[in-house]
Amino acid sequence: MSIETNTDLEEALHLRQLSEMDALADQINALPPARVRTFHPRRGRMSPKHHDAMERLWESHGVDVPLDPATALPLDLAALFGREAPTVLEIGSGMGEATVAMAAADPERDYLAVEVHTPGVGNLLSMSERRGLTNVRVALGDALTLVGHQLAPASLDAIHVFFPDPWPKARHHKRRLIQPAHVGLLRSRLRPGGTLHCATDWAEYAEAMLDTLTAEPGLTNAFDRFAPRPDHRPMTKFERRGITAHRRIYDLIFHRSPIEGEQVQAR
Ligand SMILES: C[S@@+](CC[C@H](N)C(=O)[O-])C[C@H]1O[C@@H](n2cnc3c(N)ncnc32)[C@H](O)[C@@H]1O
Repeated sequence: MSIETNTDLEEALHLRQLSEMDALADQINALPPARVRTFHPRRGRMSPKHHDAMERLWESHGVDVPLDPATALPLDLAALFGREAPTVLEIGSGMGEATVAMAAADPERDYLAVEVHTPGVGNLLSMSERRGLTNVRVALGDALTLVGHQLAPASLDAIHVFFPDPWPKARHHKRRLIQPAHVGLLRSRLRPGGTLHCATDWAEYAEAMLDTLTAEPGLTNAFDRFAPRPDHRPMTKFERRGITAHRRIYDLIFHRSPIEGEQVQAR
């Protein structure tokens, strides 16, 4: 099908056929982005196993993030998970290893992952099913649309941003997920006292994150500068890659604190 508008793209996303996915990825990559992307456009090549997991589980475990934020509808987390429980959002879940391991170890909380890379989403669904997890759901699309247009203020217990793309060149820093333009939005989706946990193996990005998070009113560092590596954060491919390259791993753990005069409706 020819893709000319966002509506066309959304229709194509719903088809979720292997060959169409590859063609779609090419066409998305060719479109001028509606806003600066925080991710590398790449083809989504799904294995038959991941494709099968998508086909069977998307309806019950998937969340559509529309390409056009103006068409995004609020997400009812209690309806999505079938219960009222504290929710953790993992942004850029990659292949889903951390989401699945943390959700398995923490059955009292619900885990929503968001990722633009379709094979990662398929892998996460497949692993989560294999382990019989009932507290994992996954959103496919841009996390900034999900957070800004589909999740309510104060609706999250924690946000995890593990090994986000470092965008090392100065001219690409505007693509970073953790930057002043986005941090106020992330904070607003946390409940009072909720946690923003970031990790990176890129020293300069780690320092920039520390400066940005420290400067944000209403976020308080739980540690003095960087946090010790928490045992509950599972090792992922990207952390292993950093360690193999002899890079130091940095964790940052901040909590949402009150801003004077701010009214928060806890959910
Ligand atoms: C370097 S990988 C790390 C993946 C995983 N957290 C790990 O530790 O293995 C960063 C991931 O973030 C995803 N990503 C970047 N920006 C995103 C966005 N705005 N919305 C959703 N996913 C995003 C990328 O597609 C990529 O899979």
